[in-house]
Amino acid sequence: MGSNIKAVPILPRFGAEISGVDITKPLEAATQAEIVDLQNKWGVTVWRDTGLDDASHVAFSRLFGHVELAPRHKGVMRFSEPELFDASNIDADGNIIDNELIRLNSKGNRLWHTDSSYMEVRSAQSLLLCHEAPPEGGATWFADMRSAYDDLPEEMKTRIDGLVAEHSYFWSRRRAGYPYTEEDIDAKPAARHPLVHFHEGSGRKSLFVGAHARDIVGMPRAEGRALIAELIEWATQPQYVFSVTYKPGDMTIWDNLCTLHRGGDFDDRGYRRDMRRTTVRAGAAPETADDPFNEMFKAAGPTAYNPDPAK
Ligand SMILES: [Fe+2]
Repeated sequence: MGSNIKAVPILPRFGAEISGVDITKPLEAATQAEIVDLQNKWGVTVWRDTGLDDASHVAFSRLFGHVELAPRHKGVMRFSEPELFDASNIDADGNIIDNELIRLNSKGNRLWHTDSSYMEVRSAQSLLLCHEAPPEGGATWFADMRSAYDDLPEEMKTRIDGLVAEHSYFWSRRRAGYPYTEEDIDAKPAARHPLVHFHEGSGRKSLFVGAHARDIVGMPRAEGRALIAELIEWATQPQYVFSVTYKPGDMTIWDNLCTLHRGGDFDDRGYRRDMRRTTVRAGAAPETADDPFNEMFKAAGPTAYNPDPAK
């Protein structure tokens, strides 16, 4: 029996809105495979009015692989599912958070980035589900890193072939206004990844660079940073970019290994925005600690982001 899944492209090469399947219930293997194929092909999929709750959000996410435990950056979790990352601006009591450090962190997320590129073991799919949306703003913007690579001038492809970037969470926070010095960041964990890699799900090449990318290994700092900025600017030209606005129940899934994303502005002191995210580890089952982000913060020592890394 053929499936009724429908995929409507958003850009000719990037992003599709998916309908015709109830993802709140367990799915047949063939349907699961079809969804994974669509995700690999389009890089970002948009699902309207899903009907998902916390438990079915996590259960559906497992279709893509190992779901990471979320960092417990706010201390008190709002959810019973430990896999749910709290991407909201509200606290456990539902009040809008008026904490400058948490707000700075959100500001960091408004830079073009890939989730967890500062980890050695990267994240692949992020599944962001809307529970409450502000009346205006609060979109997510996405950029197509495979087509951006495909379209690069040949001389740039040659120039970046074989280059490796160093990614640091603390670097992107500094750029958002955190008081880290270059020396602070030097002393904290970072990860290295090739600037261009094969995206396994599609067999296409992709750029892999974003706000966490701090330096190009072996290149003078200023030159490396100029190259990083140039590539991000190239990849976020209008022909590679679209945005999604949410109503409660809507979900976006993006593949961090072939996309960039950024949060759009909204009045985060005036309106609640309740977004919850699961994150699927790239590759096979985890061979290390289940929550790499928390492990990284423990290794980094106390931070402004989480003054008590035991939480
Ligand atoms: Fe993100």
